[in-house]
Amino acid sequence: MARTISIGGQNFEIIRTRGYFYIDKTSFLSEWWEGGDSVTLITRPRRFGKTLNMSMTEQFFL
Ligand SMILES: Nc1ncnc2c1ncn2[C@@H]1O[C@H](COP(=O)(O)OP(=O)(O)OP(=O)(O)O)[C@@H](O)[C@H]1O
Ligand SMILES: [Mg+2]
Repeated sequence: MARTISIGGQNFEIIRTRGYFYIDKTSFLSEWWEGGDSVTLITRPRRFGKTLNMSMTEQFFL
């Protein structure tokens, strides 16, 4: 069954618990952590999932 796209959704917990369409980007966590950088600059265009990725990272470290 097709999943609903959460247009405008930026909250990882809501997107996952309500079962909205989600492209798994959780591998970002290990890549970023193992990189060991003290500062990370994320340069991506608008609507590329930056805020949702930050929400995912926040949830992981809760
Ligand atoms: N991993 C993902 N899986 C499914 N949909 C996604 C994913 N990442 C982003 N989206 C979709 O793209 C939309 C934009 O994501 P988000 O607001 O995180 O982007 P942004 O890069 O922070 O944008 P802006 O530059 O405007 O702040 C989300 O509301 C969601 O609908
Ligand atoms: Mg944003």
